[in-house]
Amino acid sequence: MRKKKWVPSFLEQEKEYLVSDMKGYDKEKPLYIEIGMGMGDFITQSAKQHPEIFYVGLEREATCVARAIKKARELEISNFRVILADAMNITELFDEESVSLIYLHFSDPWPKKRTHKRRLTYPSFLSSYEKLLDPDGILIFKTDNTDFFADSLTYFQTSNFELLEKDEDYYREGEPMTAYQAKFHEEGKPICYAKYKINKV
Ligand SMILES: C[S@@+](CC[C@H](N)C(=O)[O-])C[C@H]1O[C@@H](n2cnc3c(N)ncnc32)[C@H](O)[C@@H]1O
Repeated sequence: MRKKKWVPSFLEQEKEYLVSDMKGYDKEKPLYIEIGMGMGDFITQSAKQHPEIFYVGLEREATCVARAIKKARELEISNFRVILADAMNITELFDEESVSLIYLHFSDPWPKKRTHKRRLTYPSFLSSYEKLLDPDGILIFKTDNTDFFADSLTYFQTSNFELLEKDEDYYREGEPMTAYQAKFHEEGKPICYAKYKINKV
């Protein structure tokens, strides 16, 4: 997404929602994070529905971050923060075992073999997530891309994540949707879903 002109000054003035990291989080509420949150439709609505949970969106595109902050302001939520950063550096952004749940929603599928290592489900990313999740930690992955889904299931098989649920036509009435999910749902395209728990060794 192209950076819009209003974005840098908007983010410079933002004091409430934009943070550089979540080191030292006090764990008063369980911490749920969405990696590659896009424009924040799912996570801001989830925060509104669940004030007992603290939500953090991680996103590398400044325009998406600014749009998510606008949504958070409209919803007047206090249990949401956003980090403008690349997930490559995720272990520097959160304390070990501080995260209860990770959402990976419609991550870029990077179809060419030479780019597979950029996938947010690639084994190198999974081992970072393993460090951040607490011993009961959960990871939820959704995508419309069946090849990416199948490859990701094999990545998870080589990791310490255990499959709890799999659904290749996922829909939950009343659950907030991401922007991509809403678009695919409208087009009648099935959504692949997998839910994992971490097994700490
Ligand atoms: C296809 S979009 C999906 C957005 C949103 N999750 C949804 O379902 O509507 C993927 C998003 O992930 C972000 N993203 C991709 N790779 C990332 C990375 N390594 N670190 C942070 N964000 C990333 C992109 O900037 C983009 O906003």
